[in-house]
Amino acid sequence: MTDASCTPDPTPGDGLVIVTGAGGEMGHALVPWLLRQGKRVVAMDLRPPPTPWPDGVVAATGDVRDRSFVASMADLHGDRPVEAVFHLAAVLSTAAERNPELAHEVNVLGTMNLLSLAAERGTPDRPPLFLLPSSIAVYGFDSLEAKRAAGPIDEDGHLAARTIYGLGKLAAEELGRYYATFFRQLDVGGARSAVDFRSIRFPGILSADTVPSGGTSDYGPEMLHAAAKGEIYRCFVRPDSRIPFMTMPDAIRAIEALAAAPAAALSRRVYNVGAFAPSAEEIAGFVATHLPEARIEYAPDAARQAIVDSWPEAVDDGAARRDWGWSPRHDAAGAFAEYLAPRVIARYAATTS
Ligand code: SER
Repeated sequence: MTDASCTPDPTPGDGLVIVTGAGGEMGHALVPWLLRQGKRVVAMDLRPPPTPWPDGVVAATGDVRDRSFVASMADLHGDRPVEAVFHLAAVLSTAAERNPELAHEVNVLGTMNLLSLAAERGTPDRPPLFLLPSSIAVYGFDSLEAKRAAGPIDEDGHLAARTIYGLGKLAAEELGRYYATFFRQLDVGGARSAVDFRSIRFPGILSADTVPSGGTSDYGPEMLHAAAKGEIYRCFVRPDSRIPFMTMPDAIRAIEALAAAPAAALSRRVYNVGAFAPSAEEIAGFVATHLPEARIEYAPDAARQAIVDSWPEAVDDGAARRDWGWSPRHDAAGAFAEYLAPRVIARYAATTS
């Protein structure tokens, strides 16, 4: 492994930004945002990009579980230190329950590989930014009564994940805290940040452009996309199931805002972000308002229902609002009227005409 100290006098901005899971919708939004700031980007994904990335981006096709592959990413743009990592690659909650070992390897050991790369190959003058999307799945409730009684929860309680995905995200957050706070304490004789670790616990995400795969909040986007395609949708949770959601553009704005925030403004490393918290039936109502032909039936799946029932109804995102000015652009009605419905209708009209 090359020693980062061999890099001649890097100045802020000279470094390399690594985006894992870059082939997803978040990656496709973040990479152009980074290029506009003049960053050199390594866009890593399990699959090769279907269309080439623009100039300034090197594609790296491989697996975050592969330590030597991850280590090699720092050499793909010449001899530049790692300035930031946006670690988006993950196995989502339903897929993770189907294959817990894979989920642990990707979500925990994969994160460790990236943290270790950032710590070893980071900018020498300041700790590299490490941004990890986490999830409301880190929280867990024993019963619907407890979930409903809790109301909007802050970041510090109810950390009792009931899925291997939630446990993995919690472990990844803690690994981030370790690399940010204690790593190399022995060598340097005192605490020193090896990475500037920041994380956002996302709610379910609604996109007009993509349908996620392997998540448990997927009933929200699936309902919308099925209706726009003229298909019947059999919702896998009860109509009264309620968890927080936000739109994909708001989720991307949140990542960009936390990444850009001055370190001195941050009172914590891990933040809730909220926008709206509809029941499944309320989502169906919004879909039907804009797509009156929507046909939605309910066929709850016991295992997936139990996961949703263990997640909070709503989150308190006061710390994100105070520290880095978080404020969602879309409430539920605005999300459907201004973004989801017009865009999803146009999308399927374009593919069927
Ligand atoms: N949306 C994710 C999932 O359903 C949770 O963060 O797995």
